[in-house]
Amino acid sequence: MSALPEHLKPLPDPPLLGDRQGVLAALKARLLQWRDGLLLNRRFQQWALGFPLTRPLARRYAVRLFDLCAGFIYSQVLLAAVRLDLFDMLSEGPLSLATLSKRSRLDSDALERLLQAAVALELLEQRGPHAGLETRYGLGMLGASVLTSPGVKAMIQHHALFYHDMADPVALLRRRGADRAMASYWAYATSDKPSELHDVAVGEYSALMAASQPMVAEEILACYSFAGHQHLLDLGGGEGVFLAEVGARYPKLRLTLMDLPAVAKRAALRFEQLGMRERSRCIPGSFLSDPIPKGADLISLVRVAHDHDDEFVMQLFRKLHQSMVAGAKLLIAEPMAQTKGAIPVADAYFSMYLWAMGSGRARRPDELIAMLKLAGFSKARLLRQAMPLQVRVILAEP
Ligand SMILES: C[S@@+](CC[C@H](N)C(=O)[O-])C[C@H]1O[C@@H](n2cnc3c(N)ncnc32)[C@H](O)[C@@H]1O
Repeated sequence: MSALPEHLKPLPDPPLLGDRQGVLAALKARLLQWRDGLLLNRRFQQWALGFPLTRPLARRYAVRLFDLCAGFIYSQVLLAAVRLDLFDMLSEGPLSLATLSKRSRLDSDALERLLQAAVALELLEQRGPHAGLETRYGLGMLGASVLTSPGVKAMIQHHALFYHDMADPVALLRRRGADRAMASYWAYATSDKPSELHDVAVGEYSALMAASQPMVAEEILACYSFAGHQHLLDLGGGEGVFLAEVGARYPKLRLTLMDLPAVAKRAALRFEQLGMRERSRCIPGSFLSDPIPKGADLISLVRVAHDHDDEFVMQLFRKLHQSMVAGAKLLIAEPMAQTKGAIPVADAYFSMYLWAMGSGRARRPDELIAMLKLAGFSKARLLRQAMPLQVRVILAEP
């Protein structure tokens, strides 16, 4: 007798009445099994595509599946447009194919192919041909967003590296190691002595973080008021962009940054250039092996915890809990798993990203809250955000 496929195997009997949750779970499982059977049935698929009420849904899923298959082409079209500076060229207004071809030094045949794809992806728009005027190309809705967000542009370029590691995703999943392009880019992630990393090893990632940080700071500033605080310590604060943004909004706040020596040096330079030297301090060191700087009534970890494995994060949380004085608060902001409205951001993108990097994972808010409680924090809650995309924010008290 041939074995039944998994989705058609009978489910165990539902639990006895009285266990209401168990009954509901069993009913749900049966319903899903029935649905899976339908979805795999060719005749049902054809019927759903033809029936007016199910047709839009069936089409939507067909298009989504195609998008998943073709997604790598979309991102490479975007990368080509960024590398050729097309969005910048069009920032002053629409241009013709001939002009774009000359400026990008790309044959018009090849460029036209790219423009057609970019128009289809709403990165660009085709204007015309209008009477007496040749066809021109302008910015599309998405292209305009790329242009106004330097962080996005930097990430698109950086993705060439990630793409390299993802070329054989199964091999990447089978062997998560320091020999990956992403692991050597994020040198601290797999280093035994992160404090010894030199400027070249930290320069590229620090610049990338600095470029993308304003979008993150904006989301944090929108959901948390720093008005009640006197002194903010940003651990793993990178080149100081977060502190500079918060400091600009709250001019009385004292600012301390701690990061690996080569990164802290870059932050000190930034504060100097911004005229913020008087109110800021940059402390070189590792937040794991060096003492946590004292005096702050608010400590932030922005895009830091997700870089590290559970053991490391628990160690850091415990250390922070011991070092924090009564009344001080800890603010954690990073992409978190299961964020409604943006689930693929952490659950697909960051999850794979951190795997390729060789350390860390995207945690759900309740996982982080449980870890904080385990480390001794008495309170920890997720802050309300209108539209979380880059980060979710947790506030904890010792
Ligand atoms: C993903 S980056 C985030 C930077 C910044 N918070 C932001 O959001 O732009 C993580 C930062 O943690 C720093 N870092 C990593 N390990 C560290 C350690 N052991 N001690 C101090 N800083 C560390 C890195 O140098 C880097 O600047």
